Amino acid sequence: MAATVLVAGGLGYIGSHTSVELIKKDFNVIVADNLSNSEFFILERIEQITGVKPIFFNVDLTDKIKTAEIFSQHPVDVVIHFAAYKSVSESVKEPLKYFHNNLSSLINIIECMKDAKVSKLIFSSSATVYGQPEKLPVTESTPFQKALSAYGSTKQMGEEILEKLTAAGIINAVSLRYFNPVGAHGSALMGELPIGIPNNLFPYVMQTGAGGLEQLTVYGNDYDTPDGSCLRDYIHVVDLAKAHVMACDRLFQQKNETSCEVFNIGTGKPTSVLEIIKVFERCTGVKLNYKIGDRREGDAAVVYADITKANKVLGWKAELELDEMIKSSWKWELSVRQS
Ligand code: UFG
Repeated sequence: MAATVLVAGGLGYIGSHTSVELIKKDFNVIVADNLSNSEFFILERIEQITGVKPIFFNVDLTDKIKTAEIFSQHPVDVVIHFAAYKSVSESVKEPLKYFHNNLSSLINIIECMKDAKVSKLIFSSSATVYGQPEKLPVTESTPFQKALSAYGSTKQMGEEILEKLTAAGIINAVSLRYFNPVGAHGSALMGELPIGIPNNLFPYVMQTGAGGLEQLTVYGNDYDTPDGSCLRDYIHVVDLAKAHVMACDRLFQQKNETSCEVFNIGTGKPTSVLEIIKVFERCTGVKLNYKIGDRREGDAAVVYADITKANKVLGWKAELELDEMIKSSWKWELSVRQS
């Protein structure tokens, strides 16, 4: 029988793409989302793409009573927890908001899982847990560095909470450490919807290219890298979504080797900011207005993943190349502007 997956934050950027990939693999999907950083129309887009409208709960996971109602109304096999705030810069200014939301939602959902005897959880972690790594590429055993933001702290603490709970036999967990998620669904029906002026490179590039923003600033060209700009490991959101489906399968079929598993999810290929600009211009035919500016505080020069464990143990591999990341983001940006 098909497993039922509760996707908390299932209308957000990564959650919506994951809901689609789960439905494509015949999982029953229940979406819980409080629409704080997502749009209700994405639920219809999921249906447009898959032909299936997931059951939807407009629930804030910090509300334990409402969260518990989901479990009392539906049997759940696996929970994927995406529902967290994710702006690094906002978290530096408003750390309490991040600690409250990201940690209480995680604790609440696990308490509800425990009461409902649901034991399988997939946690959205991030490469941010590594801080500025000393050795590259980063493997899953690379030690955590001191978090540079409250957002980073909540991801480190989230993983630590799971470590302790799995050791106590309360749940089985898989944490996926995302590198830099980018791109959009090939249909251009779903993609990232940043609120206000984006902080991240991809939406900034797209909005500048489309004329919504005037100019991109490249944060530093004096790093010790081949072209002087920072290197990151950009991963297509559809590939990332598929990693969640594989993690679900793994937990549902009890193929996990330990009760607390961690995987890096990236391509393993570093790409510079200036290369992104070049590929954007080649793929879209649009000349990007950009300037070189100062370094951004807190940026590491180079971060990219060792993905051996995800390849060998999880059986997952990124398939979509940088051109596809740029083209799908661009198509999405243009469709958002037309609507
Ligand atoms: N950059 C620019 N100009 C911009 C925006 C970004 O040059 O306007 C550069 C940054 O300096 C960096 C690269 O583009 O070198 C990528 O920056 P992003 O802000 O897109 O992503 P980060 O690598 O800073 O952060 C990402 C996620 C975080 C996560 C972090 C973990 O957005 O959620 O990776 O490594 F915490």
